[in-house]
Amino acid sequence: MISLCTIAASRPNHYTGLTLLLTHDPSYNHPEMTPDEGCSPSSRDPLLFTPGPLTTSRTVKEAMLRDVGSRDGAFIATVASIRERLLELAGVSQAAGYEAILMQGSGTFGIESVITSAVPRDGKLLVLANGAYGERIARIADVARIESTVLRSPEDAPVAPDQAEAALAADPAITHVAVVHCETTTGILNPIEDLGGVIKSSGRAYIVDAMSSFGAMPIDVSGTGVDFLVSSANKCIEGVPGFAFVIAKKDALLACEGSARSVSLDLHAQWRGLEKDGQFRFTPPTHAILAFEQALNELDAEGGVPGRAARYAANHRAVLDGVQAMGFRPYLPAERQTYIITSFHYPTHKNFNFAGFYDRLARLGFVIYPGKVSQAECFRIGTIGHIFEPDVRQLLAATRRVLDEMGIPDGS
Ligand SMILES: Cc1ncc(COP(=O)(O)O)c(C=O)c1O
Repeated sequence: MISLCTIAASRPNHYTGLTLLLTHDPSYNHPEMTPDEGCSPSSRDPLLFTPGPLTTSRTVKEAMLRDVGSRDGAFIATVASIRERLLELAGVSQAAGYEAILMQGSGTFGIESVITSAVPRDGKLLVLANGAYGERIARIADVARIESTVLRSPEDAPVAPDQAEAALAADPAITHVAVVHCETTTGILNPIEDLGGVIKSSGRAYIVDAMSSFGAMPIDVSGTGVDFLVSSANKCIEGVPGFAFVIAKKDALLACEGSARSVSLDLHAQWRGLEKDGQFRFTPPTHAILAFEQALNELDAEGGVPGRAARYAANHRAVLDGVQAMGFRPYLPAERQTYIITSFHYPTHKNFNFAGFYDRLARLGFVIYPGKVSQAECFRIGTIGHIFEPDVRQLLAATRRVLDEMGIPDGS
């Protein structure tokens, strides 16, 4: 069932000179599976309906079947090309005054790198928080002893630009503002464009955690006035975990020099290192980089951000329709809900317990995710990663089966 063609393309893989493109065959990731027989959990990895790590394509995984040296010329060319392609994806360029920096570690390492490098010793951070990932930014500032203040909004409401404006007007000491674009706690979208207007007109630096949205939602980085945007390899670009990346305005990046609170997470030094000789300062995540180059090729082949957004939106629609038909209630109202991830209330039926529900689904080959909402008992279903509508239909069939096994009728 693999529909794989090898095409010499305009985006060469620096090692093979070839680019692998996949057709949009939904069973592509599951070559063991035929349409008739489905697949048993033992015959494939589970499908990950989570905020990450996410399901990746076979070709992305195959791109890692190499060992390369960090000083290898082809590897250095791959890193340079990835940095350039990330800028392209963000709709900016070096010529327009932007830089892309890769940072080893998970997404949080990228966020921590920006927060602890960008806010100067005499600076102050305002965190606009409406979920767990906003709270994490505040925690990063606390641990690094960076002066900060948190403007909290309810988890089911987007951050309000007028409240941010008032907070900035009330506290001239604030130098930097951080917000999460898609708060993956719930799947809510914060209005980064309107917030950008308020933050930039008051002369503050602007940090956006676009971990779960970059690559799947159009983001006008320059129009929005973002100084630092952070995402990671294993989110909507569908690489494997191993590094985060930062799209930074060059003047804001230059201003970070000397402010870092850590050697390994020094954003400015990392950028200087990459600029000097194209190399990482410390051991690079070579396999994850090779996988990421292939993931970028596959994003292009899918039609870039619009193509990927369309698939994720279809996944989300199918999950929402199917799960609601079984009686589950989404946490957010439809108009506040993105297609990245959806939080659902626990059913009230006495037989429901999340651990049992999760385990049974996992045994059938479908991994969902616990909730992070602080005020309500919820679980989450992610609709990003290398998953397609037929995968969603299988998840729904498995969910139906699990509810039957647990003795939970529809609508409870
Ligand atoms: C919005 C957001 N920020 C930060 C993170 C943290 O990323 P990681 O778990 O890769 O450190 C996540 C992870 O899902 C996220 O969704």
